[in-house]
Amino acid sequence: MAYSSSVKSLIVLLLIALMMVITPYPTSALTCGQTLSKISSCLAYLDNKESSPSSSCCSGIHSLHNALTTTKSRREACTCLKSASKEIKTLNHSRITSLPKKCGVHLSFEISVGIKCNSVP
Ligand SMILES: *[C@@H]1O[C@H](CO)[C@@H](O)[C@H](O)[C@H]1NC(C)=O
Repeated sequence: MAYSSSVKSLIVLLLIALMMVITPYPTSALTCGQTLSKISSCLAYLDNKESSPSSSCCSGIHSLHNALTTTKSRREACTCLKSASKEIKTLNHSRITSLPKKCGVHLSFEISVGIKCNSVP
């Protein structure tokens, strides 16, 4: 039996969604996976395993900061990072707050575990 046309269009939609996830498009917001991969080398510092953030961590922070040019993209990244940080209980909260400053990135707001992502400017 052939697929009904609604199933076919659903499959097409899924393929388009998949391509949008895979294809990097520089002017748009980051996916949550891309956001997390940018800060993945910061985990050792945030987890007290290193005394200062590594240069790859800071370059990730810089590139994340440069990519988040809109309020919407910043709020999405905030929601993504917040839910990820809940999964890792050992993160040093004061290090999370001071990380951008340590890397020389100036944010217009303070990040913290209790941040309200809807109020991010
Ligand atoms: C978190 O990091 C700060 C600054 O590096 C340090 O002084 C503090 O002891 C750390 N806290 C924990 C719970 O490890």
